[in-house]
Amino acid sequence: MVVLWILSSLAVVVVLTLGAQRLGRMVKQHRHSAAIDPSGRTFPDGFIWFTGEDAYQHEGGNRNNDWARMEESPDTPVPGGERNEMAADFFRRYEEDFDVVQRDGHQAHRIGVEWSRIEPERGRYDEAALATYQAMLESLRRRGLQTFFNIWHFTLPLWAADDGGFESERVMADWQRLVRMLARRFGPMVDFWSTMIDSQIYALRGYGVGEIPPRVRDMKRALWMYEALVRAHAHAYRIIKDETEDAPVGQIYFFDIYESAGGPLDAFITRRLDSIFNWAYLGALRTGRLSVSVPGGPSLRTEIPEAAGTLDWLGVNYYRRQIISVDLKASGGVRQETLPGVPTTDMGWEIYPEGLFLVLERLSRRYPELPLYITESGLADADDSRRPRYITDHLAWVHEAISRGVPVRGFSYWSLTDNWEWIEGSGPKFGLYAVDLATGARTPRPSARLFSWITRNNRLPDFGQMDTILTGGE
Ligand code: BGC
Repeated sequence: MVVLWILSSLAVVVVLTLGAQRLGRMVKQHRHSAAIDPSGRTFPDGFIWFTGEDAYQHEGGNRNNDWARMEESPDTPVPGGERNEMAADFFRRYEEDFDVVQRDGHQAHRIGVEWSRIEPERGRYDEAALATYQAMLESLRRRGLQTFFNIWHFTLPLWAADDGGFESERVMADWQRLVRMLARRFGPMVDFWSTMIDSQIYALRGYGVGEIPPRVRDMKRALWMYEALVRAHAHAYRIIKDETEDAPVGQIYFFDIYESAGGPLDAFITRRLDSIFNWAYLGALRTGRLSVSVPGGPSLRTEIPEAAGTLDWLGVNYYRRQIISVDLKASGGVRQETLPGVPTTDMGWEIYPEGLFLVLERLSRRYPELPLYITESGLADADDSRRPRYITDHLAWVHEAISRGVPVRGFSYWSLTDNWEWIEGSGPKFGLYAVDLATGARTPRPSARLFSWITRNNRLPDFGQMDTILTGGE
């Protein structure tokens, strides 16, 4: 983690303040998520209910990119050396999934494209791949579903990875060519463009701590990657605007709630993490100024004027809260912990619904006019024992934010079917629909009925209605 790096350079300060730290930690009381009543909360007319499927995480059959290559390497981080061969087989089964989405009454759907499939070799676009994406968009249109369309999420064609990824000016030019071709071709069929997903995570985990491709451990390069991705987004924004009739262009972005364990150094590191992960990158897309600094490490302050004002909407991905503390005994000197005794997902992430409200509120304080769509909220929960409650509790907080004036326009559960969870492999089960990895068959989890009920009624169920809905009675 980036914090490991940060903290190694802060070791001296840590020693000096450790006493105060422990004391602070004892004093600080963490609240569990506050409970608010979800019953019957009704959403504004026109609120968009949807789910989504990602390219690498759902399509299957993508072996021509840097992630596939990592999975095939001897030091693959994926448990058991598992490889993402078929994912949810979405590339072949998309009609089946769109049938489900339509039957369940959703109003939109998100898909993405896999660059290595579209452009297997530099400069050669694969017509068959493009035709399939076109067929997906047409199918969604025919069904009366609005489309969210994402261009890039973590994976690079091998040729682009080998040429330096977004650090290379040539790849940056290839990216612009790709975006222009997609905008020209698919412009009339896309309602919401997203240029990329979780850029800051890619920069930090890919270039700072080396967990994901290209697995570089150099915090300076991570900060340059922030800048490169801000530029890549800004180019894409202008190109899509040029090629379409002013289609809304945004980005999908991951937020974590960080809370200090209580000591002064904990609080300092927590604020830095919050700034680096949650706000620095985003700020550049609003103001054209990128300012990001790692305590005791590199800083980057630069003007990227072409990036100013390049967000027409923002996709909010929110999953969890983490408690941050400095601890010399921990690996790298920092702990990112889940509070004891709180409900957690199968991945051990705290279920903290109030955090979604906090993210929305903080966003609207910074950027009051920016339309927000919750593009991902969900959990790994194979037996679906926590998902129904998770959905209604998070939605109650979304409703609360809306009633206080935050411009939230839609909500997407993540995800429709079980997905490939990057370096965690296929273990975590996020889907409203379970996927049998051997056959590709989909089976609804009870939560699929609940989400369908909510989308069809545009409100949360009344107290006492849940069981009937979950067992298929409504
Ligand atoms: C990513 C997804 C991932 C989810 C849960 C999101 O921010 O976009 O790819 O499955 O987090 O980890």
